[in-house]
Amino acid sequence: MKLGLLALTFSPIAYAYTYGLGTSWSIGTGSSSTIEKVTTTLNAGIPPSGQLGELILWPALSNGTGDLLMTSVESWSNQSWCGGVTGQWCIRTQVFHDQKSTFGAFAPLSASEPVTITFERNPDASGWTQSAIVNNNVVSMISSSSGPMTLFGMSTECDDYCAMTVSPQTYTNTTIILDVANPTWGATEVIGSRIYGDGTIDTNAQQPTIVDGITSSEDGKVWTITNITIPQLG
Ligand SMILES: *[C@@H]1O[C@H](CO)[C@@H](O)[C@H](O)[C@H]1NC(C)=O
Ligand SMILES: *[C@@H]1O[C@H](CO)[C@@H](O)[C@H](O)[C@H]1NC(C)=O
Ligand SMILES: *[C@@H]1O[C@H](CO)[C@@H](O)[C@H](O)[C@H]1NC(C)=O
Ligand SMILES: *[C@@H]1O[C@H](CO)[C@@H](O)[C@H](O)[C@H]1NC(C)=O
Repeated sequence: MKLGLLALTFSPIAYAYTYGLGTSWSIGTGSSSTIEKVTTTLNAGIPPSGQLGELILWPALSNGTGDLLMTSVESWSNQSWCGGVTGQWCIRTQVFHDQKSTFGAFAPLSASEPVTITFERNPDASGWTQSAIVNNNVVSMISSSSGPMTLFGMSTECDDYCAMTVSPQTYTNTTIILDVANPTWGATEVIGSRIYGDGTIDTNAQQPTIVDGITSSEDGKVWTITNITIPQLG
């Protein structure tokens, strides 16, 4: 666990940890504003060939201490665990709770196929539902009784000396709805990667994350980011 270094609570899953990258973009650090709903469309690009480790891309919600809600897009040496073939990603919704992940369905995701990911709090605040939607079909979904969430961001995790990303990832039309309007919430945005782990990655090679078009409406209740692009790292 390398939690101290990251804006977003970031927990390697169950695998041997070699190195990873932290958040490439996050919003909410230092604010107590809570999130009602997030929608984003991820285009993960082309997975690296010859994968020997595990490369995991994940947009996630956290409150810094409780559960981590994340939908992960993953590249392993053998993608058959999700019904995928070489050249595809695997995708799954998940909740990281008490050091343990619980998963929604596993599904293959073709290269450069956009997936729309939503995190939505129950109207009575009793928990959350995440869904991953490809071509208008929900391919993975999970509900949890997780508490309030204050941080949203996206990370790239690399385990077991993975092959790194070979194309950029874009997150388009990201919409974050807060419970209560906060006109200054945009100032909590953090752009760019952080390095942790064994330090073998050239931090310069991680820059720049490009953020295009952050706007708010309803006095700062609804925040929209047209396009967040994380460059290829491999
Ligand atoms: C991937 O794993 C499955 C299930 O264990 C196996 O049948 C298949 O041969 C493996 N594929 C490759 C390319 O190793
Ligand atoms: C974070 O969520 C957990 C439950 O998932 C809750 O116990 C905790 O109070 C929350 N923390 C904050 C700062 O809201
Ligand atoms: C952007 O997302 C919002 C909220 O999910 C949705 O209503 C809108 O249609 C989307 N716009 C585009 C251009 O996809
Ligand atoms: C997002 O931004 C990247 C980098 O500027 C650009 O290459 C890409 O075409 C943009 N995508 C969309 C959907 O606007």
